[in-house]
Parts: sequence; C-alpha cells; structure tokens
Amino acid sequence: MVKKKILITGGAGFIGSHVVRLFVNNYPSYEIYNLDSLTYAGNLENLKDIDQKANYHFIKADITDANLMTELFDKHQFDSVIHLAAESHVDRSITDPLLFIKTNILGTVNLLNAAKNAWKDQMDGKLFYHISTDEVYGSLGETGLFTETTPYDPRSPYSSSKASSDHLVRAYYHTYKLPVVISNCSNNYGPNQFPEKLIPLSISNIKNNKSIPIYGKGENIRDWLFVIDHATAIDAIYHRGTNGETYNIGGINEWTNIDLIYKLCEVMDAKLGRDKGESAKLITFVKDRAGHDMRYAIDSSKLMKELGWSPSLQFEEGIEKTVDWYLANEEWLNNIVSGDYESYYTQQYVNR
Ligand code: NAD
Ligand code: TYD
Repeated sequence: MVKKKILITGGAGFIGSHVVRLFVNNYPSYEIYNLDSLTYAGNLENLKDIDQKANYHFIKADITDANLMTELFDKHQFDSVIHLAAESHVDRSITDPLLFIKTNILGTVNLLNAAKNAWKDQMDGKLFYHISTDEVYGSLGETGLFTETTPYDPRSPYSSSKASSDHLVRAYYHTYKLPVVISNCSNNYGPNQFPEKLIPLSISNIKNNKSIPIYGKGENIRDWLFVIDHATAIDAIYHRGTNGETYNIGGINEWTNIDLIYKLCEVMDAKLGRDKGESAKLITFVKDRAGHDMRYAIDSSKLMKELGWSPSLQFEEGIEKTVDWYLANEEWLNNIVSGDYESYYTQQYVNR
C-alpha cells in the first residue's frame, strides 16, 4: 500500500470537506492533514462523519502565518499539498479586497515557500496541487469556452487574487522546479455550501419565504458542477496529472441565473408541498453586482481525454440531491444563518 502524508488546506470549507472525505475514505493508507483557520466559511461540522478516522488529522492554522507554515512542514514532513484554503466569495472581495490579497496571494506564497524549503533536497514524489477557478479567464460573450490556454483576464478582486496565486504556482515550477499541478473549475454546488452563494442562499430563502435576490436581469451564465464530481476530478488529477500541467474542470452545464432559479423553485415547490409557481413569486431583481462577469463556460476535454474523468450527475439529479440535503440538515443551516451571517446579509442585500 502506498503511504502518503497529504496536507489539504481549507478542508473545513465547502469543496475542501468533500475532498478530505474522499481521500480519508478511499485511501486508508494516506495520512490526511486538514489545515484550516476556521473563518466564517470553515465548519468542522462538515466533517463529523469522518473526524474519528485514524488517518484524519485536523490542524487549526492560518496560511498567512509564514513561520507557522514552515514549522508545520518541518514537523509533519508532508509529501504533497492540495491547496484549497481561500477567501472565495466575489461579493465579499468587492467589499474587502485586501483580505483576498492576504489570504489568496500571500497565503499561497507562504505554502509554496514552506514546500520548496522542505522538499529542496528531494523533489521526486512531491506535489503541490493548487485548486483554482475558471473566473481567472474573465468573462465570455455568447459563444466560446475557456480552455487551458485562454489568456488570463480576471475582473474581480477575487478572481484577480486567484489569478495571481496561479501565476505564482507556475513561477515556482519554472524557477525552483517545484512539482505542481493546477486545476481551474467552474461553479460548484451541492451539500455544505455556505449560504452566501447563489444556490444555497436561494434554497434558504425559499424555505423561509424570503425574497430571492437576482442581480441585474438574471441573464448571467454560469457552468455548474456537482461538488462531488469536482472532488473526483481532483482525485484523478492528484494521482494521474502531469507535473507542470493545468486542467480545466467543468460540468458541461450552462444556465442563466434566472432559469436556474426557476428550476430550483420548481424542485422546492415539489419538496415543500407548495403549489406550482409559489416559490417563484419570491424572485426579486436587485441592483447588479459591480463588474458582474457575463458568462463562464469551460472546455474540460483535456481532463476527460487524458485522465478519463467525466461528471457523473445530470443537473436535475444534482439539484434534487442538494435540496434534499439542505432540507434534511436544517440545524446545519440554522447554525449558519444567524449571528455574523445576519449582519453580512443586511449589509449585502438590505442596505445596498
Ligand atoms: P469556502 O469559502 O467554502 O472554504 C474556504 C476554506 O478555507 C474555509 O474552510 C476557510 O476557513 C479556509 N480558509 C480561509 N482563509 C484561510 C486562511 N487564511 N488559513 C487557513 N484556512 C483558511 O470555499 P470553497 O467554495 O470550498 O472553495 C475552495 C477552493 O476552491 C478555493 O480555493 C476556491 O477559489 C476554489 N474554487 C471554488 C469554486 C466554487 O464554486 N466554490 C469553484 C472553483 C474553484
Ligand atoms: P455566486 O454563487 O456568488 O458565484 P460566482 O459569482 O463565483 O459565479 O453567484 C453565481 C451567480 O449568481 C453570479 O452570476 C451572481 C449571481 N447571484 C445573484 O444573482 N444573486 C445572489 O444573491 C448571489 C449570491 C449571486
């Protein structure tokens, strides 16, 4: 059995928790170290089904602390990193860009430096896997898809900070020969997503008979991928990806925001025993997001052809699973939509 010590950053967040679960369950011979500072978006409840497993370890730490990152690499001798920790919400990046610069850029450099120093005598068998977003490529018109060679054109503080971190990862590959791989994924949805993002925010509001805020005219397009399909893509890229390469990950599943919300309302009506069309009455068009990217769409043929990955779920099935999860996990949701979340919500949606 192959033994590995893998540092997964941001493992208490939405995507990270699914990646940690997959690796802990599928690879019992790997020691998985989940490093997370537990910001508002980090929630150890996301991992309560696996946190007693012998190969799972949690480290509460902040990636912006350079010395601590070096100490942790010295102490644990990680042989690979899957780096997901980040500030991830575009709207928050518009309010507080500096936080995104610190976490997403400085935090990534700290991890790159720690890995570079720890692995300087032996790079073979090591891997720094950086998880990024399709938003680094900018905004598409009505046609075309982002490929791995699309020039970067980030337009929000969030996507700019992620683009910057991607460039730094590539710089460490070229300059220091650090073994790296990068993937850029489209919008994820599924269980455990923090209800500041479109789908869980809408589920929560529909359930509580609150208005569903749609930015602008709802014509913006996103490509949605079920989070567990992102985790299986990360598994494939971690194990079989080529050193120095980038892989795009997408759902082949484009929706305008308004059509997606109509679909979600239909599912919610059925699940909540409401009359058809009742939830859709909650749709409210609100002021558009500043610099709102019009369309994201991903060409993931490289990943599909080279590594044999494909999304396992149709959107209809994924959205039902997601709604079922949120309705079955009321406590998880209620614990989040109080306190800090309420002040965020008021600032973002009421006092705009
Ligand atoms: P998330 O906001 O749900 O989780 C981020 C996690 O990082 C949280 O657990 C948080 O506590 C942790 N974190 C934040 N700052 C930290 C710090 N300074 N030190 C240590 N931990 C810190 O985010 P997510 O949606 O799960 O996204 C994870 C990664 O995937 C991010 O890098 C994001 O850019 C990328 N990504 C997300 C999507 C998406 O649709 N959500 C799509 C493509 C790529
Ligand atoms: P979001 O989930 O924030 O992801 P991203 O901005 O990273 O794509 O938003 C998805 C889309 O939904 C995006 O076009 C913005 C829009 N949106 C709304 O219309 N209303 C909302 O309340 C939110 C959070 C997003």
